[in-house]
Amino acid sequence: MNEFNRSWAQHASALVIVISKTTFAVPGATEETPALWHTFDTGSAWGHLALQASISGWHTHGMAGFDQELTRKELNIPEGYALHAAVAIGKLGDKATLAEYLQAREEPSPRRPLSELAAEGDFTL
Ligand SMILES: Cc1cc2nc3c(=O)[nH]c(=O)nc-3n(C[C@H](O)[C@H](O)[C@H](O)COP(=O)(O)O)c2cc1C
Repeated sequence: MNEFNRSWAQHASALVIVISKTTFAVPGATEETPALWHTFDTGSAWGHLALQASISGWHTHGMAGFDQELTRKELNIPEGYALHAAVAIGKLGDKATLAEYLQAREEPSPRRPLSELAAEGDFTL
């Protein structure tokens, strides 16, 4: 974790590293071919992990701020697996234990209107 993430994520119940296998073998084949959608599948899996955790009374927080190379080395993650993110899983702590600037961030963040994110027709910005 970078220093910022260590400041709060060190207290999490679990730190999960989200990875995906970048190749696959179609059923019946032995040869692996690139799994072009591995990022799509893995993003979806993380999203559902977050939802299920919430339903089960846990909180999750995704992070990109960690050393990918060191993580790969320490966890023996071989070539052929992509690292995507770290996820802290835990129960909400007491806000007062956070640095002041972090306490101020303990508010729901605003959401962009759907009209900014979805469009009909071609990709015209
Ligand atoms: C690409 C990406 C990287 C992020 N990296 C970190 C991080 O290293 N540390 C952190 O505390 N939050 C990080 N965040 C923010 C949290 O994941 C954030 O709480 C999450 O995106 C939920 O956003 P919301 O507060 O708008 O619901 C990152 C978000 C994104 C999209």
